Amino acid sequence: MASPTTIAIIHGPNLNLLGTREPDVYGHTTLEQINEGLRSHEESLGVTLSFFQSNHEGELVEHIQNLSPCDGIVINAAAYTHTSVALRDALAASPIPFVEVHLSNVYSREAFRHESLLAPKAVGVICGFGPDSYLLGLRALLSS
Ligand code: DQA
Repeated sequence: MASPTTIAIIHGPNLNLLGTREPDVYGHTTLEQINEGLRSHEESLGVTLSFFQSNHEGELVEHIQNLSPCDGIVINAAAYTHTSVALRDALAASPIPFVEVHLSNVYSREAFRHESLLAPKAVGVICGFGPDSYLLGLRALLSS
């Protein structure tokens, strides 16, 4: 991937509640802290990041459709990962490569979390490393 590189970080529903939401599953780190952590790597990784969170499927679709030219997407679509044909279609329609990330190990959880509608279209998937999943996803995307 050529430098300077721009990457969109996209967070789906309920991730605005991180820090207080089911801390036994998602830990105590807030979404703002996750974003700050990623931002602190911008210079060393040679990237410019943009951040977007929404609880609304249509807003996420429109955000993906309207992304200004960008080199990649790191997306935690949260529950929409498992349900949203619309989000999958938006990502499939976009020429921008994406990595799917999850804080939790979705495969050690309920069966309905084992299916991702997005993963078949993704460059790859990273899950189970808490907030580090985002950084691992970003690094993987940059070296893909
Ligand atoms: C999640 C896992 C999803 O199954 C869940 O609906 C979320 C968060 C994660 O980051 O572990 O909201 O994407």
